[in-house]
Amino acid sequence: MSQNKPVHVPVLLKEVVNYLALLPGRSVVDGTLGLGGHALSCLKEIGVKGKYYGFDLDENNLKIAKKRLQLFSSECQFFQDSFVHCHDRLQELGITAVDAILLDLGLSSPHVDDASRGFSFQKKAPLDMRFDRSKGLTAAHVLNNYTEYDLKTIFYRYGEEKYAPKLARMIVARRREKALGITEDLMNLIQEIMRSPKDQNRMASRVFQALRIEVNDELNVLREAIPSLLSLLKSGGRMVVISYHSLEDRIVKQGFKQAALNDCDYQILTKKPIVPSEAELQKNPRSRSAKLRAIFKS
Ligand SMILES: C[S@@+](CC[C@H](N)C(=O)[O-])C[C@H]1O[C@@H](n2cnc3c(N)ncnc32)[C@H](O)[C@@H]1O
Repeated sequence: MSQNKPVHVPVLLKEVVNYLALLPGRSVVDGTLGLGGHALSCLKEIGVKGKYYGFDLDENNLKIAKKRLQLFSSECQFFQDSFVHCHDRLQELGITAVDAILLDLGLSSPHVDDASRGFSFQKKAPLDMRFDRSKGLTAAHVLNNYTEYDLKTIFYRYGEEKYAPKLARMIVARRREKALGITEDLMNLIQEIMRSPKDQNRMASRVFQALRIEVNDELNVLREAIPSLLSLLKSGGRMVVISYHSLEDRIVKQGFKQAALNDCDYQILTKKPIVPSEAELQKNPRSRSAKLRAIFKS
């Protein structure tokens, strides 16, 4: 881990606050607390009578967020768990509905910057990529055990990688000699396929993202979570989701559409997804693929 204090610039912050339309005393579920950047602004809106339920799979991020939000400790409750379990975890506490729900999907900056996590192709690290390092399959397990067909499908489907068949074939051939263990092992194969460093980096971004989605089962979790989270909304409540991948955005769009079709109390607030302004992109290039969608329950 770098010696510098971890930072994550919250994406579309003003838009999140506007769409959630929080008022003093409101209750909020933050399914992806991260470093608590969005939380900090939301907590100021809901004040001392509000309630903030923060979930994150990542133990380190949760620790940082807790510390950062300690001024608001009586309004906050923290859970190291997936947002797919928000509904059940809150029910255990006797909470059946909340006023606002936020999901800000994907990676936080410390995930990318922390060399030990294996999320970044630019850092030599064990191929891990789990948000929750206490359970589940690592990226190394996927690369060393999945069939060639499954690897090809992951790179193709989640990364839209045109060299998916070639890469999958090379992984299977390489692992017969020696298991892949670190990010460099995968990068070496990508460098054999692509000549220019620019193309290598582009391909590595797609391949690493695809692997991360598989390792954390991100699309299935999101698909399952949306209806379950929507069922937690009080009348007058709102849910906002920020996604960073076209397949995620499609799941959010369809999940909201389905809710509005099934129940006329749900109204979609964003016909088209909201994206970062030029000014935000300049200040925070990591926001570049963000898309925000919001829904209201009357
Ligand atoms: C983009 S960051 C959130 C940043 C946060 N909004 C902020 O302003 O600091 C996404 C966070 O979601 C967490 N995460 C990813 N999948 C999750 C899941 N299924 N359940 C809970 N947390 C998850 C990651 O560990 C990461 O901390």
